[in-house]
Amino acid sequence: RAQGGILYTIPTYSQFHRLAALPALSVPKPPTLKRRTRKRGSAPMASDLTSDTFLASKKISDEIKADLAVHPEKYTMLTGDRPTGRLHMGHYFGTIRERVALQNAGVTTRIIIADYQVITDRDTTANIADNVHNMVIDYLACGIDPEKTIIFTHSAVPALNQLMLPFLSLVTESELMRNPTVKAEQEASGHALTGLLLSYPVHQACDILFCKGNVVPVGKDQLPHIEQTRQIARRFNERYGQVFPEPHGLLTDAVEIPGLDGRKMSKSYGNAIALSATEEETAKLIKKSKTDSERMITFDKENRPGVSALLTTAALTTGRTEQDIAAEIGNDGAGALKRYVTESVNAYLAPIRERRRELEGQPEMVREILHEGNRRANEIANTTLDEVREAMGMVY
Ligand code: TRP
Repeated sequence: RAQGGILYTIPTYSQFHRLAALPALSVPKPPTLKRRTRKRGSAPMASDLTSDTFLASKKISDEIKADLAVHPEKYTMLTGDRPTGRLHMGHYFGTIRERVALQNAGVTTRIIIADYQVITDRDTTANIADNVHNMVIDYLACGIDPEKTIIFTHSAVPALNQLMLPFLSLVTESELMRNPTVKAEQEASGHALTGLLLSYPVHQACDILFCKGNVVPVGKDQLPHIEQTRQIARRFNERYGQVFPEPHGLLTDAVEIPGLDGRKMSKSYGNAIALSATEEETAKLIKKSKTDSERMITFDKENRPGVSALLTTAALTTGRTEQDIAAEIGNDGAGALKRYVTESVNAYLAPIRERRRELEGQPEMVREILHEGNRRANEIANTTLDEVREAMGMVY
């Protein structure tokens, strides 16, 4: 269905997991590269690895992944993003690539653009409409297929939002207060804790449960929300009768692409390469990233975060290992490394950016895709809300 001669292929879900570390898009490699298969597992931080809840979630997540490849029809994926800006390479490698693989594996897939979630920590809706439009473009450019995946927004689906009322009655104040992600987000925002921020994990439960989502690809920071969602589903079913599944988080195996400074890639750190950035902007960002005075290039995350982040970026976008690239660049220094990274990133993103440009020229079509997604999401939400009314004895 990709029109306009876009020449990338997307692997099937099982291919994706066998080749988890390889780029999902086959793109021409920069000319000087040796092609090498890259083998690397994700390496979560030691503290995450030892946490019981993380381990338990990871185990279930791995079991589901194995089953998904065999029985995709049993699964409905719901996940999404806040429309706070453009998607960047962190989103791409962290989750977008996996969503595309799930979609193409035959899983039922829905993506929410969480516009109401944006006002959990700010006083303005400025830019939301533009961000939503561009987020649809980013998804499509990355291979989300609107025939298979419903893309929709909170604000366009009233019945989804109405689930919030019965769901709020199923959680206690202290459960809301002790959610670690909510606390961290409130502190980072510097704003007072609003009612919406405090209760957004419940709203997120509405996002997941309105379409009976049972798998939710998320980062580990979102695990408390999944747990809260499971609790809400369980309590609803116990109190009123079976309506909702208890969803599981799908923890991605994808390697985390660091930002240009070695910290987590995030727009707010100014260390992110947006999918929509031009080749020149990309070059500029990489050029001004911080390295160190050591000329010899080596991969050492602890002591050389800047150089190592560049190496990982090059590794992810070429399929080589960091060590391999470091050895090749050797004594040519950070300048040579940055040129190499720029070339690899731009080559990797070229097909996405080309498709992006095409879509930018078709705003009507993009709007139409979102309208259709919203229409389909409303159908599902209305059906679920009817079941909820029925279960609660509120059909008049
Ligand atoms: N809170 C998620 C984030 O910030 C975005 C989101 C909104 C979401 N609704 C969701 C994720 C439902 C998973 C399921 O990234």
